[in-house]
Parts: sequence; C-alpha cells; structure tokens
Amino acid sequence: MKSIVIKHEDIKVCEERIVVDVEDKSLDITLLLDEHELAPLFCGAAWAGTLVWEAAVALSNYVLNEVDLKPLRVLELGAGLGVPGMVAGLLGAKRVVITEQPELVPLIRTNIRRNIASLSSVEAKILSWGREATTSFCDEMGLFDLVLSCDCVYEPLYGESWRDLAQTMDVLCQHNPNCKILASVERRHADGINKFLSYIATDTTLKARQLIRIPKTERGLCDEGEVIEVYCITHNSM
Ligand SMILES: C[S@@+](CC[C@H](N)C(=O)[O-])C[C@H]1O[C@@H](n2cnc3c(N)ncnc32)[C@H](O)[C@@H]1O
Repeated sequence: MKSIVIKHEDIKVCEERIVVDVEDKSLDITLLLDEHELAPLFCGAAWAGTLVWEAAVALSNYVLNEVDLKPLRVLELGAGLGVPGMVAGLLGAKRVVITEQPELVPLIRTNIRRNIASLSSVEAKILSWGREATTSFCDEMGLFDLVLSCDCVYEPLYGESWRDLAQTMDVLCQHNPNCKILASVERRHADGINKFLSYIATDTTLKARQLIRIPKTERGLCDEGEVIEVYCITHNSM
C-alpha cells in the first residue's frame, strides 16, 4: 500500500512549512503569508484551512492507490492548503482545479507556484459552496470527472454549510452525471456528518456509499476525532 508522507518542521515559534512526499516527488507547502493575506485568516473559521487534516491525508492515499488520474478532470472543494489536489496534479491528472473561500486562495496559488508551476494543468479558483455559485462556476470552468472533498463537514465550525456543500455536489453531478465524488470526513462530537448524509439521500439527486473506515490510532492534544471515513457520492442514475 503506497502512502504520502507528511513531514512537519521542528516547531520553534510557529510552523512555517509542511513537506509532503508523494512517491519520488515532493510538495513543499509554505504557510508564510503577506500581512494583507494574513488578517482575513484570523477572522471566523478560515484558520482551519491552513492545516492538512487527516481526512486529506486519507483521501490522498486512497487516490494514490486506487484511482487512475491521468484521464480525469479533478476538482477539489474546501481544499484548505490543497494537498490532495496537488497530489492529483503530481500523479498526472489531466486537469486539476483546487477551490476554496476567497481568503484562502492566495496561499493555494503561492503553493502551486512553489511546487508545480510547470504543471499548467493545476490552478486555484474561488468557490464558496451553494447551488447558484456552483452553477456559475460550472458555466465558466466546464465539467469534472472526479471531485475531492476532505473534512468539509463540521458543524461546530461551519454550521449547516454541509447543506450548501451537498448542493454544490448535486450541481456538479447534474452537469456531469458520470462525475464521481470522493468525500473524506472525520467523525467528531456533534459533527453533523449524519445530517449531511441524510440530506444527500433525501434532498439531492445523489447517493452516497461508504468506501473505507479508518479508526484513528493516534490522537493529538485536544483531538476528539475517532475515525476517518471515505464516501463515494454519485448521481442516483449511476
Ligand atoms: C477542516 S478544513 C479542511 C481543509 C482541507 N480540505 C483538509 O482536509 O486539509 C474545512 C475547509 O472547508 C472550507 N469551507 C468551509 N465552508 C465553506 C464554504 N461555504 N465554501 C467553501 N469552502 C468552505 C474552509 O475554508 C476550510 O478550508
């Protein structure tokens, strides 16, 4: 079983970079921001997008082992630092669009430039979830075959935005009924994941099935996560 390797720097004052080994290549992700880029991250919940969450590691590993990316147009939702999207780019995906809320996109662009500038197939775009925004996004950006979503459902930080996330997924699969969504989630207290899955079943044209369930063997300080689950979400007709 192949696996990406995340290497954190020795933490002195504040973590500045994360190195991710992907087979014989590596991504060197900087967390350094300009002053004007930094301020918005300390407003609301945007800080959570400046970490690589375990759900992103799990989905990167799933994709590394199970998916032939070469023919695929890949979209990442709520990407944070965009590691799974960049991994897909390194592994040769035909096209990768890494999306986030506006305040996090500059950091993703910096890291694309630092790591995979030679891959014109990888870009970062703003996409805040919801039916209307996603319809405009698809009109501009076209169709996607594979959508990645990691740790994007957590009510204590993002409230019921899982509803908007489900609607975004619905629009993407209505535009391309062959589209496959791989969504990894981390189970924590009152996370809202069951509500998200019920909403998918009752209020969208999608269906979800669990692919893998990985119990967490190690937990950091204040880490209440118990298990990572990966779901495959597709149009009902698939
Ligand atoms: C816990 S972080 C996960 C980041 C990354 N996917 C990972 O697993 O490392 C959740 C991400 O969802 C994004 N997010 C939350 N609500 C969103 C919304 N309404 N539209 C787009 N992105 C959103 C946040 O900006 C944040 O980066």
